[in-house]
Amino acid sequence: MIDSKHFLNGISNTGYLTAAICAFGVLIVWKLISAIFFSPLSHIPGPLLTAITPHYINFLSALNQRTIGTYSLHRRYGPIVRVSPTEVSVLSPEAVREVYSSPHYAKYAPLYSMFGHFGAPSAFSSCTREEHGWRRKAVSQSYSLSFVLKDEVATGKVLQAVKDYLNFVESDRRVDIYNANTFYATDVVTGKIFGSEASMKTLAGNEAHREIVLGHYDRTGRVPTWMLLELPFITNVLEWLAFYRRKAWSWVWGGEVKDREIVARIRKWSWDAFMDAKSNSREDTIAGRLAKLVREGGSAEGVWDDRGAIIAEGNDTPQSGSFGYSTSYLTLLDYWVEGDDPIITLNAQKRLHSELLDAFPKSAEISGSGWPHSMDVQILPHETILKALNLPYLDAILKETLRIYTAVPIRLPRVVPPSAATNSTSSHRSGRIVEGKFIPAGTTIGAFAYGIHRDEVFAVETGEKDKPGDVDSFLPERWLINGGVEGELTPDASAKEKQRIRAIEARLWAFSSGGRNCVGRHVSILGMKLLLVAIYSRYQTRVTPNSGVKVTHNRWNDRRTFRDVLPFLGVDGVVTFTPYE
Ligand code: HEM
Repeated sequence: MIDSKHFLNGISNTGYLTAAICAFGVLIVWKLISAIFFSPLSHIPGPLLTAITPHYINFLSALNQRTIGTYSLHRRYGPIVRVSPTEVSVLSPEAVREVYSSPHYAKYAPLYSMFGHFGAPSAFSSCTREEHGWRRKAVSQSYSLSFVLKDEVATGKVLQAVKDYLNFVESDRRVDIYNANTFYATDVVTGKIFGSEASMKTLAGNEAHREIVLGHYDRTGRVPTWMLLELPFITNVLEWLAFYRRKAWSWVWGGEVKDREIVARIRKWSWDAFMDAKSNSREDTIAGRLAKLVREGGSAEGVWDDRGAIIAEGNDTPQSGSFGYSTSYLTLLDYWVEGDDPIITLNAQKRLHSELLDAFPKSAEISGSGWPHSMDVQILPHETILKALNLPYLDAILKETLRIYTAVPIRLPRVVPPSAATNSTSSHRSGRIVEGKFIPAGTTIGAFAYGIHRDEVFAVETGEKDKPGDVDSFLPERWLINGGVEGELTPDASAKEKQRIRAIEARLWAFSSGGRNCVGRHVSILGMKLLLVAIYSRYQTRVTPNSGVKVTHNRWNDRRTFRDVLPFLGVDGVVTFTPYE
């Protein structure tokens, strides 16, 4: 027999359960409806899913497709796109100006705070205007074009690294290009900050320095950035488990736990180099000048101590500076040797070689110092450096490389400021108008070079019927008036061409724009151009398949977790340098 009391209880329990399920269903439906129709970003174009969940874009990140995926959304929805319930992506020049030229848009802290050192923000990782202003001011003069040139004429630091690179190449001529370029970038940048004596000497063969630099790139267990941002708890638990697994492994089998230690080593190296500059009063170096600021008691805005000074400069350098630098330079040689169309690539090399021979004839009397054919010089005169910087075809190649294979193609996220700093507010809400649309304060917003660099402003006709100009191909000629053949143009056509070039130069965003643009861009360009002049006046370069040379770091693959644009998948990174006759 059924107990009637129990039976009634059963009914009421089922009723409660059904009611709870219904309420939950209604809540979900309401959540969906409000996300799609009434959420603060519901008026921004984008796929429905991006109004409901951040995991659409997270999923793309997990597939290393975030940048390309966002670019596809822009092609479909236009210059402003919602990529998650709290984030929009923009591409138009007006939107980029609004976001990156205004000091009120802070950097997106969850991402940038990962790049701090010694527990404090650096010039790169500081987010707000207050944190950033004094740090930038302390270093910006040392990175100005005039200072960079003066410094190079006086010290020949970059030239020394170029010579070391050529010696490195000459020792085998089949070069692991990833190592060579990272070494070069590190030697140049540390030389710039700490001076030639105290710089890293990786190319010249200092094994301890090499180990630090390669170890830094080789960190095991690198966690995808998007996971740290979006799933911090799970990621930290996994990291913690992985750390103890490695530790347990090392107890059982011996060996060291490399991961964090290698980061500590690069920091320690920077710290020691800074302290050395301080105690030896190396005021002709950037580190020395910062140390002097510390000695003199600091600046009005910022609290200076050794920690502040090294953060403002020293640690940004081997880590973020040399990384950005080497990646762009890497891309250049990689593209050159392997590009989509090897014929174009070889033709470009030939064209550059002949430009270099015209500018720097082999006769020492004409070229002044005999450089770049002879490396028997300690410093380069100012005019020689300027000549190298102003070679039109070399410049076009560098710009095209920075456009299409840029070192930082990914989004540079900022946060929309509250109404006190707004250009236009509604009476109820606080935020800014971007691309004609109201974006509430607190929304994450960003542009990305990969998308900007594929703007139709870059599309030029090649003049060949079967090869219409497009934005994806590597075509240095697009940076030259009429492809470098100016004489054939009417004055009108020439004026039009000049206007076109001005427009694409204004759109190049490899170093970002506004008050947070790359402080190291002049050093980078000088370093890349002097090296390219030296290499391509002597050698042709080609990728060597199955070379038998052990590639220690194929960073295109390493970067799967860090960047999501992989132009050279499968390239193993050994390059053969063949001297011109
Ligand atoms: C080809 C080489 C390089 C490229 C393409 C590059 C690109 C960039 C980009 C896109 C930014 C903006 C990042 C953001 O807003 O999130 C940036 C910032 C920065 N870069 Fe570079 N960079 C290069 C080389 C260097 C070098 C050699 C140094 C140092 C010597 C350097 C130091 C910095 C610093 C300190 C910032 C932060 C500036 C600030 O916020 O005030 N970069 N770089």
